[in-house]
Parts: sequence; structure tokens; C-alpha cells
Amino acid sequence: MGFSYRHNRLHCDEVDFQTLARQYGTPVYVYSESILRRNAEVIKTCFIDDGFDVSYAMKANPNPEILSLFKTYGFGVDIVSAGELQMAHYSGFKGSEINFAGVGKTQAELKLALENEIDHFNVESQFELDQLETQAALMGRQARVLLRLNPDIDPQTHPHISTGLKQNKFGMGSELVSHILTHAREYPHIQFDGLHCHIGSQITNPQPFLDLIDYLQRYTNELSQSGVKLSHLDLGGGFGVNYENPFEDILTTTPYLETYAKSAKAKLGRYKLHIQPGRVLVANSAVLLSRVLGVKENGDHYFVVIDGATTDLIRPALYNAYHHISPCERKENTRLGDVVGPVCESSDVLAKNRELPEFNSDDLLTVASAGAYASSMGSTYNLRPRSPEILVGVDGSTRLIRRRQTFEEMTTLYQI
Ligand SMILES: Cc1ncc(COP(=O)(O)O)c(C=O)c1O
Repeated sequence: MGFSYRHNRLHCDEVDFQTLARQYGTPVYVYSESILRRNAEVIKTCFIDDGFDVSYAMKANPNPEILSLFKTYGFGVDIVSAGELQMAHYSGFKGSEINFAGVGKTQAELKLALENEIDHFNVESQFELDQLETQAALMGRQARVLLRLNPDIDPQTHPHISTGLKQNKFGMGSELVSHILTHAREYPHIQFDGLHCHIGSQITNPQPFLDLIDYLQRYTNELSQSGVKLSHLDLGGGFGVNYENPFEDILTTTPYLETYAKSAKAKLGRYKLHIQPGRVLVANSAVLLSRVLGVKENGDHYFVVIDGATTDLIRPALYNAYHHISPCERKENTRLGDVVGPVCESSDVLAKNRELPEFNSDDLLTVASAGAYASSMGSTYNLRPRSPEILVGVDGSTRLIRRRQTFEEMTTLYQI
């Protein structure tokens, strides 16, 4: 299942990457349906079957094929913009299956979400709560709310994806949350259902999650002693994956899922529990298939220049993230160097200081773990069209699930 070598050639399930490159061109994202299903099945078994609500954080990958596949496993969606709300609808989700997170929502977005009768808002600030109260009053609606608490817990991850520390812009401190909840009657159009926490992303050590569970246990006890009654707790997403060993199964990349679910259930089980995973569901399901344009040396530095770029996968440039490089045809010799794209930025590097196979022009390679925060963070910088996405089905079929952007599509925006 998934990505593996057969007779020294890399395959996605039964399909050879040479065939995919010939048929669809490069760069192209290649997804394995069998891995997407395996990941969804594991999350369903660990969480949904144990009474949790699971909302897929669609920012990780909003392709509608992936969204509707996850819907069949009983997932809702976690959105952060009007665009994501519309894509959720387009992919078949009802308002009641959507929750709206994010540190800044416009008045137009609050209105749209209320019109669409979404399940609830995760509110991150006093100003957002005031604006939501005003909008809901104008529309004669009641908004269900979970307040996003910033618990000041260090998630031990890259600083750019840490969200639960005081110095991060997300959520509200416990004093403010307690104040709002003990003054709930000042917001007649808000129904305060509970709390939301999301402490960060790519968390590989389970301890920060266990600390969060203990923190919430203490804090909710304090709240109930002050007479505050809540029914829902959303523990956010953040489950990390193994980028070094990208073709591992979800239960190996993220071994703590079951214990985490059990611990949350044991300590917070009197609440309806939610999670919002993104990365863990999709990261290992795709690779970015690219062609080597050529190799070059500057002094004693060796570069492999490929047709894929940071416009397809910005994580190495943004977070110094590791993405594994695999040749589509196994090679004997290796050489220390960088894999870089054609974009006019020195940060357009997909792999730095790596022992790489000795590539030649026209070779194919894959950049692994390209299912999460890859295509969704793509751009058209240097007027490079967005790369296509293809799905290798469980039946061995292959099909486009997003086509390559055309030049005409890029110029349309200038026709004003
Ligand atoms: C509020 C919220 N929930 C869930 C997620 C998903 O995180 P992950 O992809 O690490 O599971 C994010 C990611 O930024 C987020 O901000």
C-alpha cells in the first residue's frame, strides 16, 4: 500500500511514477487513495468510535475530492475563511458539520457563517465576540460559541507553528475567558457551549497534549465552581508525523493517538469532546513528483535543479522543514548537495545539505510528505501555474483531481 519500490522503481500503489509523469507532466502532486482511507479509518476508530467529534482542518488540504472522501468517515470540517466555508459546501458539508476557527474573521464572514447556520464559532478575542453578538442580534440569530483559550503550554515544535503560548496571537488568556463566561448574560445572542484550545502543529511528543488535558481538567473544575456550565471541549489538532520516514503507516508516524484519546476521555469525558486534525490525515498521502532539469556546481557546492519549487511546497523555506527526496529509479551512488527549484529566491530550496542520489538531467524524483500544507500553501510566484493533483485510486486507476492552472486563468484577474 502507498509508496514503495518495486524492481528498483518507485510506485504509488500499483502505478509506476514514469507512467504518471508521461501522462500528467511534472511537477505534479500524486495522492494515494489507499493511504487517505487508512488515515481516515485510524482517526475514526481512535476518536469517532469513542464519541469524539472530528473536524478535518481543511487548511491542510482543501481539495474537494479529499474533503468528500473524509465526509464518508463521519468527519466535519474546521474552516478559517469564507473561501473555506464555500469549499466545504461545494464538497457536500452542511452548515451543521462546519465550525469556524481563526484569529480574525471579517464582519462579512461572520454574517455568511450565520446565514449558513454553521454549527459553532471558535471565538478568539473580545472584539470578535462583540462583533459576533452585534451581527447575530442584527440577524435575529443565536450563535453557538466555544471560546479559544490560550493555555500557555509549550508544544515543543517549530516556533512558527506554536500557537498556545502567551506570545502567540491565538486565543485568550484564562482570566479573560473566565470573565466572559461569568458575564455570559451580557451577550444575549451568544450561546456559550464550551472551550477550544489548539496549542500548535507538528507535535511529535505527546506530553504537551497530556499537559493540555490536565490543564483543562483543572480549569473546567474552577469554572464549574464559579457556576459556569459548559458542555463541549475542542482540543484542536496538531498531531505530528514522521517527515524523516515519510512512507510509514499513521500508527507508526503518530503512535500516541490511542493513548491520547483514552486519556482525554478518562479526564474530560463528561464533556462532548472534539478534535480538529489536519496534517496527520493527509501529510503522508502524497508526494510532489518532479523532473530534474539539470545538475550544477558552484565552487564545491552541488545543486540538483528540479521543475518543482517552493511555489509547490513552501515548508522547507518557511520552517526549515525536512522533506524526504526519493529517486524514481534507485541509484547506486550518492553525493552531498541541495535540491532547488527554478524560482528566483535563494530560499527556493526543497532539500539542503543532503546525501542525494547522483541525479542526471531528466531523472524523476519525489519530494515526500506533500499531502499537508503543500498544495494548500501553493502560489503563482514568478507566474508559475499551480501544479495539478492526481489521485491513484484503490482500484489502480489514476485521475486528475485538480488540473494544472492555465496562463489564461492567471491573466483573467488583470482584465479589469
Ligand atoms: C485552530 C486550528 N485547528 C486545527 C489545526 C490543524 O493542525 P494540524 O494540521 O497540525 O493538525 C490548525 C492548524 O493551524 C489550527 O490553527
